[in-house]
Amino acid sequence: MQKWIEQATHDVRVFFESDSTGHDFAHIERVRSMALRLADIEHADKAEVELTAILHDYGDEKFYATKEDGGAALRQWLDQTTLLPEQKDRIETAIRTVGFKGGTNESPKTLLAKIVQDADRLDAIGAIGIARTFMYAGATGSKMHEDKQQIRDAMTAEEYRDGTSTATQHMHEKLLKLKDLMQTKAGKQEAEKRHQFMLDFLEQFNKEWNRGN
Ligand code: ADP
Ligand code: NI
Repeated sequence: MQKWIEQATHDVRVFFESDSTGHDFAHIERVRSMALRLADIEHADKAEVELTAILHDYGDEKFYATKEDGGAALRQWLDQTTLLPEQKDRIETAIRTVGFKGGTNESPKTLLAKIVQDADRLDAIGAIGIARTFMYAGATGSKMHEDKQQIRDAMTAEEYRDGTSTATQHMHEKLLKLKDLMQTKAGKQEAEKRHQFMLDFLEQFNKEWNRGN
C-alpha cells in the first residue's frame, strides 16, 4: 500500500502542476492530512483513507472532456496497482461520492467516503476556503462582489458553474451550506469553527464594502 501511496502522490503532483483554479497540489496535501486526522479519530483504515484522499480529484470530470473520461482515468490508475479488486472498488466508489453537486450526487455510504468528503469540504471553507473562492473567481474573470444578490436568482446553473457568480455569492450558495453536510463528528466540529470564521469575514467585508454609503 505504501508503494501506491507514493506512486499516487507523484502522479497527482504532476497532474496538478499547472492548475490555477484552486485545485493545486497543496489542496491535495491539505485534504490528505485532514483525512488522516479524521481517520485517526474515527478509527478508519489510515492507508486506504490516505490513498483515497490523494486520488480524490484525479478523475474529476472538470479536468476531462467527459465524465466518463475522468472515471476511466481513475480506473486505469487503480488497475495498474496490485490492490485487491474489492479495495479498488471501495476507493473508486468513495471518490465518486466525494464531490458536491448541489445535492444531486450519491451520498457517501462508507466511513472511507465520509472521511474524504469531509476533508475535501473542510478545505472549501474557513480561511483557505475563502482564499480558494477568490482565486477561482479571479481565474474565471468573475467579480469578488456585487451588490445585487438577486442577480444570481436569474442565473442558470450553467452560468453559475462557469463562474458568472461573484466570490461572495459563491460563499452564500455553497460554502455556508457545507457545515450542515458534514458526515463525521470530528468533521462537523472543525466545520463549526471554519463556518464562524466565514460569517465574521462576510460581516467585516460588507462593512468595508458599504463604508460611506
Ligand atoms: P470541489 O471539486 O472541491 O467541489 P470545485 O472545483 O467546485 O471544488 O471548486 C474549487 C474551488 O473553487 C473551491 O474552493 C470552490 O469553493 C471554488 N469555486 C467553485 N466554483 C466557484 C464559483 N462559481 N465562484 C467562486 N469560487 C468557486
Ligand atoms: Ni478536492
